[in-house]
Amino acid sequence: MINIDNIRADFPILNRQVNGKPLVYFDNAATSQTPQQVIDVIVDYYSNYNANIHRGVHTLSQEATDLYEDARLKIQQHFNAKHSYEILLTSGTTHGINLVANGFTSLLDAHDEVIVSALEHHSNIVPWQMLCERTGATLKVIPMTTDGELIMNAYEALLSERTKLVFVNHISNALGTINPIETIIQKAHEVGAAVLIDGAQSCPHIKPDVQALDVDFYVASAHKMCGPTGVGVLYGKEEWLDKLPPYQGGGEMIDQVSFEKTTYAGLPHKFEAGTPNICGGIAFGAAVDYMNAIGFDAISRYEHELLEYATAQLLEIEGLEIIGPKDLKNKTSVISFNLKDIHPYDVGTILDKMGIAVRTGHHCAQPIMDFFNIPGTVRASFAFYNTKAEIDALISGVKKAKMMLS
Ligand code: ALA
Repeated sequence: MINIDNIRADFPILNRQVNGKPLVYFDNAATSQTPQQVIDVIVDYYSNYNANIHRGVHTLSQEATDLYEDARLKIQQHFNAKHSYEILLTSGTTHGINLVANGFTSLLDAHDEVIVSALEHHSNIVPWQMLCERTGATLKVIPMTTDGELIMNAYEALLSERTKLVFVNHISNALGTINPIETIIQKAHEVGAAVLIDGAQSCPHIKPDVQALDVDFYVASAHKMCGPTGVGVLYGKEEWLDKLPPYQGGGEMIDQVSFEKTTYAGLPHKFEAGTPNICGGIAFGAAVDYMNAIGFDAISRYEHELLEYATAQLLEIEGLEIIGPKDLKNKTSVISFNLKDIHPYDVGTILDKMGIAVRTGHHCAQPIMDFFNIPGTVRASFAFYNTKAEIDALISGVKKAKMMLS
């Protein structure tokens, strides 16, 4: 059960005014807000523990190392990874995807195929296109329906013994569609293909169990789940991480270096060259603790209520079209919409004047916008600290924008 007053009190930014109005923050799919508990950890780290990790015999370095490695353990438990060394701390989802895509360069050739979905963010398209350019492999695309849902029998028809990799998001950032990743993973494994799931948009809402999913790679970003920017996670099954070569060379990722030959460190350090975002990693652990203390069942139940409440009211506005699944069971708390004959950017600008933050544009998913033949959408994305009163403000803002722009 969400105690909304207590939760909102944890987020100092929710008290601020924007353009003379109380902030209504509905751009959570771009980045979530940060609770005081996580801000405190960041301040405490720089006030008391700041040092480089895994390197020093001195006390500060050892304390910082312990805090960082404790965070890795929290993240391991959160994702239910079998081993802590299967949890790589990255700079974010994009870094994790590029690390895997780069690693597959030596494992693919021109005979191979890889499969992406029509619902992807650019960060889960472009690195794989670059991989195909390097290897000659072919990129195939799972099509979607006009409700923004993947066509699963078309997916099955794409799979063959040539398929080496499938990469799909768990939840679409642009439309909020929840993809049937259990079936996607199972079918890919039947032909021997590995699967990477982009969890950037799922991790704010649900707690993935990578062992139950039997997924090969799962990536996410801390800043979408109440943590700081510049840090994220790549879960990789041990057998795959052992097969992939290092992504970057540098300090930390080596065993022995000489001018004749360098040998690499074991997992996870083989993939963690250079000084990482130490404070970010520790704060990521604190963010995971914070969200788990509220509970992901309570979070997703409450956010679904917000989704239903907002959808019903938006659909009453004449000329407003919601792009994405009609069946709200297949959707998370992200609503992409357009007002007939009005550019999304203009709606977003008027909403901002009222203190309401939404994202407008193609949401780094141009192929989705091309499919619907639109320049973009207005996207309102809700988190567990939003309220129905804020949704009421959005609805009156959209009505006002429509009046001003028609
Ligand atoms: N990927 C983020 C979004 O969907 C930035 O807005």
